[in-house]
Amino acid sequence: MKSLSAYHALCEEIWEHNYHYFVENAPKISDRAFDQLFAELIEIEKAHPDWVSPSSPTQRVGEILSGGFPLASHTTPMLSLANSYSRDEVQVFLERMEKLLLPHEIEYVTELKMDGIAISVRYEKGVLVRALTRGNGEKGEQITSNIRTIASLPLQLRAPFPDTLEARGEVFMPKSAFQALNERQTQRGKQLFANPRNAAGGSLKLLDPQEVSQRGLAISFYGIAEISGREPASHFEALDYLRTLGLPIVGEYQRCSNFEEIMGFATQVEKCRFQLPFEIDGVVIKIDPLKAQKKLGVTGKNYRWAIAYKFAAERVETVVRDITVQIGRTGVLTPVAELDPVFVAGSTISRATLHNQEEIERKDVRVGDTVFIEKGGDVIPKIVSVCLEKRPRGAKPWKLPAHCPVCGTPLLQSESEVAVRCPNKRGCEAQGLKRLIHYASKGGMDIEHLGEKVINGLVELGFVKKLSDLYTLTPEQLSCLKNFKEKSIQNVLSSLERSKEVSLARFLMALGIPHVGAETAELLARRAGCIEALYQIGEDELLEIDGVGPIVAESVVTFFTDPEHQEEIQRLLDYGVHPVVIQSKGFDSHSFNGKTFVLTGALENYTRAGAAAVIKKRGGKVSSSVSRQTDYLLVGADPGSKLEKAKKLGVKILDEEAFASLL
Ligand code: IVH
Repeated sequence: MKSLSAYHALCEEIWEHNYHYFVENAPKISDRAFDQLFAELIEIEKAHPDWVSPSSPTQRVGEILSGGFPLASHTTPMLSLANSYSRDEVQVFLERMEKLLLPHEIEYVTELKMDGIAISVRYEKGVLVRALTRGNGEKGEQITSNIRTIASLPLQLRAPFPDTLEARGEVFMPKSAFQALNERQTQRGKQLFANPRNAAGGSLKLLDPQEVSQRGLAISFYGIAEISGREPASHFEALDYLRTLGLPIVGEYQRCSNFEEIMGFATQVEKCRFQLPFEIDGVVIKIDPLKAQKKLGVTGKNYRWAIAYKFAAERVETVVRDITVQIGRTGVLTPVAELDPVFVAGSTISRATLHNQEEIERKDVRVGDTVFIEKGGDVIPKIVSVCLEKRPRGAKPWKLPAHCPVCGTPLLQSESEVAVRCPNKRGCEAQGLKRLIHYASKGGMDIEHLGEKVINGLVELGFVKKLSDLYTLTPEQLSCLKNFKEKSIQNVLSSLERSKEVSLARFLMALGIPHVGAETAELLARRAGCIEALYQIGEDELLEIDGVGPIVAESVVTFFTDPEHQEEIQRLLDYGVHPVVIQSKGFDSHSFNGKTFVLTGALENYTRAGAAAVIKKRGGKVSSSVSRQTDYLLVGADPGSKLEKAKKLGVKILDEEAFASLL
């Protein structure tokens, strides 16, 4: 690096990547590539200390604050770890420790490096009082209400607990939750999350804890930042102690005395990393005695007593043979790369989604290109980049067709989303097929023996076009399917018959109303009581349902006011489909049944979402504003103007204790 302007350009470039990583939650380069840029910057600054500008990325700890949450100061700074990528670098770390510590202080703990978002959680008198992101290391964002929605995080420590405890850990999204989230994003035509880490980050920054609670986040703790009373003597003991307090602890950890033991642990973990239900990006090696940790202190923005040993994501090369287009049930088009099959991270893959046109242009993927594929565990494989040297001559940039490849209708790109859709909802066979598959699927009517293959066959034979056609199937028609004998025919017919008795919520899910998932379907079913009521329901009434926003309300009204949808639903009912509202068992006669609640102020023992859930479970409703229809106002600390209004209207007011006793 020669010039000052090149130095400034590198600073800019790193800031730009920081922005994409932390704010957009959509990194443009791998962590490793980022670290390389950062290392380059450090090198330059070492050589030219007079160049270092106060706004260099090296001059600040941690991430950009994205706004939206109140800030609070960390009681002790929340720093980071230096990274290493090779055995040699680990060896150098160990040598440094040997130089700086006395022989009896040298004991290590090696543990999983969870790939998520660092968090500091504070308990006072055993009760969770605050959760902060790392932020800039000095101040973090207060995301307590979002953190409280994490199912595995206790709101109360197990006794005996210290007066104050601030524990540090990682919030992450398990692979299964990540997959489910991206499936939902696809269905809604929204941008996909690049990986579980970014999905966890994005989820924690949501402003609605109810939404966060549906993201399936989890947490693991790996250290203590502050504790009153007696401190554990070692990191190993600290982890055990956190566990006795009821906190989930970082998956695997082991005491190690030397390089061989550390590398043995790392190798074992690396071998089975893809079998883990969550993503890790390496292991962390820490000095065990806490006294020795304190003695070592910090170096710049990192703790000196620990180092991360990062695994490279498994990466393979393959060739893009073709780029095809898939059409979802809501008409969203997804380009897919058809690959020469390769084995990566535990399985063979032959296709990889390319998400959308923007993504293809960004990576410039063309048919015939050799590409690098990365896959973490059972997370969807992704094309990381193109190997340009191997690009065949004449390979042309790929473009989404202007017309639907199945029905020929001109495609639509709405302004509010990246997705391109085929607007021909009724006539497009591809969408019809996907709707049928969805209707019969586990998440829909759950019709056994009527999987994708069978439905494909029935559509190809021309026996089934719309949902209601399924209920007109005859044994003769079914016998035309390949390998379909008496038994299989009977199986399908009985499953179809059984599916007719169904909960209204499941039926609504199965209809495939855009933006209506399981949770929303449940809310709609309870509110409407019967399917016919939904034909008349207006957006205003839908918006009164806690958990229904304007996009869902509009989608529901559009769907049910469409005469063709009404006719199709009527046909289904005529064939005997009988959707009913199923009241939650055991609470039918509960005093909350049919009552409308409004919540205000901060509750001590519940999150808003949690309180809403227990009310709904008992047949009650939760509404966002106080009106004459409100039966109860549940009041926490610092209530808002709702309290005054409720008093005026004579609404019954419950504090948390009264609420608990009614429960
Ligand atoms: S100890 C707050 N131990 O890795 C710093 N960190 O690259 C605590 N991480 O910011 C450092 N697993 O978010 C530590 N077992 C573990 C970890 C871990 C994941 C994260 C943490 C940190 C980042 C540094």
